[in-house]
Amino acid sequence: MSKVGFIGVGKIGQTIVYSSIVSGAVDEAVIYDIIPELPEKFEHELRHAFATKGIKTEILGTNNLDDVAGMDMVVISAGKPRKPGMSRRDLFVDNAKIMMDLAGKLAPKNPGAIYLMVANPVDMMASVFMKYSKEYTISTGDQVETMRMRSYIAKKLKVPVTQVDGFVGGEHGEDAVVLWSTVKVKGKPIDNFNINKQEVEDYVKKIPGEIIRVMGGTTWGPGTIIADIIKAVSLNENRVMSIATPRQYEGQIIHVSSPIVVSSSIGPSLETLLDEKDRWHLNSAMKDFYEAYMENMKQLEQSLKPT
Ligand SMILES: NC(=O)c1ccc[n+]([C@@H]2O[C@H](COP(=O)([O-])OP(=O)(O)OC[C@H]3O[C@@H](n4cnc5c(N)ncnc54)[C@H](O)[C@@H]3O)[C@@H](O)[C@H]2O)c1
Repeated sequence: MSKVGFIGVGKIGQTIVYSSIVSGAVDEAVIYDIIPELPEKFEHELRHAFATKGIKTEILGTNNLDDVAGMDMVVISAGKPRKPGMSRRDLFVDNAKIMMDLAGKLAPKNPGAIYLMVANPVDMMASVFMKYSKEYTISTGDQVETMRMRSYIAKKLKVPVTQVDGFVGGEHGEDAVVLWSTVKVKGKPIDNFNINKQEVEDYVKKIPGEIIRVMGGTTWGPGTIIADIIKAVSLNENRVMSIATPRQYEGQIIHVSSPIVVSSSIGPSLETLLDEKDRWHLNSAMKDFYEAYMENMKQLEQSLKPT
């Protein structure tokens, strides 16, 4: 039995709910949003879709957060999305306030659940949620970038995407780094192939902004990839993914991605298999994350002071 709560069912939330249920990862879904009637009408849509597919997952769409109780996993995609030209970090203060509120309300009702953060800036929101809930929280991290990288290399080299391996690490977004020592095509190191690494890195960083500019948001790509993270946890798949997991840094919990085994428990990390250069990038991503996170926390505290 896998009971999954979904908090926030806007563009990305809806895609995640649909994809994860279709993939067989969810036996019971409780879907919550603050917009009146949205979860309830979405529940009808899902019931119609699953009637034709013969899917028996139990679904409840609700505006009552108390219904999200006793879950094995809680997926949080509630929050503001960025508009064209914005960086993910610009969302920090607004979305952190939502996480603080949700942390206080969800944690007591879902003891032992794994929390999966989706809202941006996703790794920092995972750190904020874990700080205030004290519950184990992971972030979708760079698994999305990992698949963007693999898809781009496959297209460029005209090989099936299943023949491309490798991971992107660091913070999700503009500061993500391709971990080149992990990238292989048909089992051979990437340096055996004629590919412009800068072009790959630019694609991974810029394509989401381009999709947002034209389509108003990213949905099917991350929605499907995030559903696979839920499936790896729910079905205990032992799949290696580049998600961000909590780590201690200067006395704070921070979230930075590197390849790790994902199943009903998370780990071990495969970080020790990276070459020196990739490990250096990862360490520098942790330092940058920590500094930006502390700066953003200061702004958050400032905004919470009575004026
Ligand atoms: N991790 C990733 O790879 C990834 C990919 C895409 C989007 N995102 C992020 O996910 C978030 C949502 O994006 P979107 O495109 O779905 O936005 P959206 O505006 O379409 O949906 C956001 C939803 O959150 C709801 N919401 C707001 N506050 C809430 C609260 N306190 N409780 C419950 N629900 C609440 C809103 O009512 C809305 O339905 C954004 O921060 C976006 O940047 C992350």
